[in-house]
Amino acid sequence: MVRHLLKISDLSKAEIKKIINKALEIKQNPHIFDSTLKGETLLMIFAKPSLRTRISFEVGMQQLGGHAIFYSIKDSPLGKKENIHDTAKTASRFVNLIAARVFKRQDVRDLAQHAEVPVINMLDDFAHPCQMMGDFLTIKEKKGRLDNLKISYFGDAYNNVTYDLMRIAAIFGLTLDVACPVGSEYTPEQEVLDEVSQISKETGAHINVIHDAFKAAKDSDVLYTDSWMSYGIPVEKEEERRKIFIPFQVNSQIMETAKPDAIFMNCLPAKRGYEQTAEVIDGPQSIVFDQAENRLHGQKGIMLFLRDKF
Ligand code: CP
Ligand code: NVA
Repeated sequence: MVRHLLKISDLSKAEIKKIINKALEIKQNPHIFDSTLKGETLLMIFAKPSLRTRISFEVGMQQLGGHAIFYSIKDSPLGKKENIHDTAKTASRFVNLIAARVFKRQDVRDLAQHAEVPVINMLDDFAHPCQMMGDFLTIKEKKGRLDNLKISYFGDAYNNVTYDLMRIAAIFGLTLDVACPVGSEYTPEQEVLDEVSQISKETGAHINVIHDAFKAAKDSDVLYTDSWMSYGIPVEKEEERRKIFIPFQVNSQIMETAKPDAIFMNCLPAKRGYEQTAEVIDGPQSIVFDQAENRLHGQKGIMLFLRDKF
């Protein structure tokens, strides 16, 4: 059966650990892996902008000996000019992997349903599994462990990255405090809360949605935030959202509330003065560019795993 990666919980804890370990091996000795996907092609379908995801997948595929195609569907939306069924079936005849960044979760699900090759979600409105793989690889490097951690998340929690952070924290049995404004526009969807609570029953994780940034920061090992203006949110909303989210900005007082050796993460793109201050993102506890780099290594691991190379 063809495996897909649509959200991080499509993988078990053992599989995530296996991919992270492989990614670390690749990072240390990239040349050993330079022909592992020789002759293979990755199709990257983009409906939204990207810096990190596009570059890291393209470079990653090339470094593994394969080739990546960038296909923008901005002007010819997936599912309109040609239906998703036909797109998935056709692409499967040409390429070995399909990756997609789309607006709606159903689009990537439909692609996976009809594709005959693995489909990777490069971000939709429900998940960002490639981000999480790189992030947990980064946490492992910085903290030396993936257990017994308190993570705290600040800001927009009606959000793809937050959802996968909640899922992976649940899978690893961690404590995660998600600090966000009150209201359904800013808090996680019930479906995600249900999934996370189901996983947590088995793993003993504590995933809490709260509305107090200082409480979330207390005793935290990892502080994480994401944009207040995710791709697709209209610019007219910016001022209103800035006012709503400002109590959840990661600033020096928040950093001082966490453990002294806490790290600061942001999946990027970031805006200084919004989800974090410049002092924090440009300060000594920030590891955002190591985090960005690890997208490359994590995704190489994901591609090799889905192509059954280890
Ligand atoms: N973090 C991330 O996915 O960045 P891009 O939107 O630049 O790909
Ligand atoms: N939540 C952000 C993540 C960007 C990588 C967005 O969807 O734009």
